[in-house]
Amino acid sequence: MTTPRVFITRKIPEDGLHKMQAAADVEIWPRKLPPSRELVLEKITQIDGLVCLLTDPIDEAVIAAGAGKLRVISQMAVGYDNIDIAAATANRIPVGHTPGVLTETTADFAFTLMLAGARRVVEGARYVREGQWETWGPTLLMGFDIYNGTLGIIGFGRIGQAMARRAAGFNMRVIYYDPSSDPAVGRSLGAESCSLEQVLREADFLSIHTPLTEDTYHMIDADAFRKMKPSCVLVNTSRGGTVDPRALYEALKSGELAYAALDVTEPEPISMEDPLLTLDNCLIVPHIASSTVRTRNLMASMAADNLIAGLQGEPLPNCVNPEVYSEKGGEQ
Ligand code: GLV
Repeated sequence: MTTPRVFITRKIPEDGLHKMQAAADVEIWPRKLPPSRELVLEKITQIDGLVCLLTDPIDEAVIAAGAGKLRVISQMAVGYDNIDIAAATANRIPVGHTPGVLTETTADFAFTLMLAGARRVVEGARYVREGQWETWGPTLLMGFDIYNGTLGIIGFGRIGQAMARRAAGFNMRVIYYDPSSDPAVGRSLGAESCSLEQVLREADFLSIHTPLTEDTYHMIDADAFRKMKPSCVLVNTSRGGTVDPRALYEALKSGELAYAALDVTEPEPISMEDPLLTLDNCLIVPHIASSTVRTRNLMASMAADNLIAGLQGEPLPNCVNPEVYSEKGGEQ
């Protein structure tokens, strides 16, 4: 049997890389920036397995170019809105992703952003470095209490639930919007299932944990900001596209929203000309919520397990489109 060929769109952490290299003839794109679309279109015709990241648009044309030879797409991320899943399914190509291992790490970071935003940590650090700290100030950099506040969560999957568990330690009331979540799960965590409207109106802190889909694209828009408390702190660690960035700018500038702490933006990376970068009440970090040494290695290792199973013709341990294994396969 010939050794399968695999293309990895960036150098990934070693725990995963070593497993992949032991199982396949692996080519790694060596640069910091993702490979061009032209290069991916060329590589995909030559490989049995693709390992990709959320920065790689794996659209219908890319999948069509790989169809026939490509046996598996393994994404090193839990989200997969960059991949045309319907096209992969139609071509009976299983797609793997990495749920679970990053849940607590991502929730830790969303909570970090919430605390940092509410207590103006980044503004304070800048103030000191700029030499402005002359004395203790009675009204200096006043923020908002987290303790006893109301945390609104949009998307009550694994990460949303992990946020609720953290909030319990701060005596927060937790309300959430997720029409697909079983209310019993919320009750077991002391959290209340509500309408989107109620979550927007009552949250002191709003944290987004929903995948990006046609339904969630710009779900936080000008209308949503009008409903929110002017003292609300918005946290986004999901995908930038869930928030309308122009409406966010207007809300932060006009005082309709107190603070936004964003791990994700639309587009990514954010343009240096983006007006959000001019605001003191907007904290933006470069999509690092799952980035701890342990978690990124676990994600890479899980991506390797999905890849290897796919190369061996076995069901992927974490498959986004298991219908490829049903008798009717990808038939639509
Ligand atoms: C990160 O954003 C991921 O989807 O894993």
